[in-house]
Amino acid sequence: MKTLREYIKEAGGKKTAIGHFNISNLETLHGIYNAAKRLNVPVIIGLSEGEEDFVGRSEAIGMIKELRIKENFPIFLNADHHYSLERVQKAVDAGFDAVIFDGASLSFEENVKITEQCVKYAKSVNKEILVEAELGYIGSGSNIKEVIPEGAGVKTKPAEAKKFVELTGVDMLAPSVGSIHGLIKSGKPHIDEKLVAEIKKAVGIPLVLHGGSGLRDVDFANAIKAGISIIHINTEIRVAYDEALKKSLLDNPKEIAPYKILQPAVEAIEKIVYEKLKLFNGMK
Ligand code: G3H
Ligand code: ZN
Repeated sequence: MKTLREYIKEAGGKKTAIGHFNISNLETLHGIYNAAKRLNVPVIIGLSEGEEDFVGRSEAIGMIKELRIKENFPIFLNADHHYSLERVQKAVDAGFDAVIFDGASLSFEENVKITEQCVKYAKSVNKEILVEAELGYIGSGSNIKEVIPEGAGVKTKPAEAKKFVELTGVDMLAPSVGSIHGLIKSGKPHIDEKLVAEIKKAVGIPLVLHGGSGLRDVDFANAIKAGISIIHINTEIRVAYDEALKKSLLDNPKEIAPYKILQPAVEAIEKIVYEKLKLFNGMK
């Protein structure tokens, strides 16, 4: 099987993107894995700090690596939005395939300093691991927001991105190009594909699009064409899980078997992820 680095390179060459979806539990993993398996495309599972604490670091590694090895399927594990060197170190030590140090709300200098420390540490432990950093704040939290949070959405400058990548040695960069974390009730964010292309040209490494929930299909298509290699989605699958679970509980008040109560939530997630993966992989 190819490595995650090779799959990302391949996606860049084919002008497709690898889907990255977050999980908080086994049902979410099942929904995502079922969809990726049906389409036979690589997929990345993300765990933010909160998700990682809830699922358990070792449990997450156990599930994903076991699927990859025993089922021979390209499923990878990313430590998503980790906010300190200490948290990044724990994920690296545990055996994650990729880690993200998120210093987007820090000053440029502070972001460079900690990102550089993360890269150094990660590579000293695991040469294959991929380190991603964020430059440009797109808000935080995969939830439903009334409006775009203050300070979010200031776009990344290509020259600054180039300098950042040179100074830190990161493998991948998540720039701010128009998307916002979460679902925004008023107004639809939209991707500045011209900026994506300029940043891609300036940095020459794979670019990652965060805040995928709520974007239109055309935004994804344009972003991929312009140089995005990985796309993150979380809020939309959280909403699908929540709605399906609430309905299942209301429809079956006497049912107490979790595997029966939760099955509609697995299916709801699978449906959304299937459509997104088809789109990201240029499938009809
Ligand atoms: O890292 C996670 C993603 O960027 C998710 O963003 O909740 O807007 O889909 P989203
Ligand atoms: Zn994100």
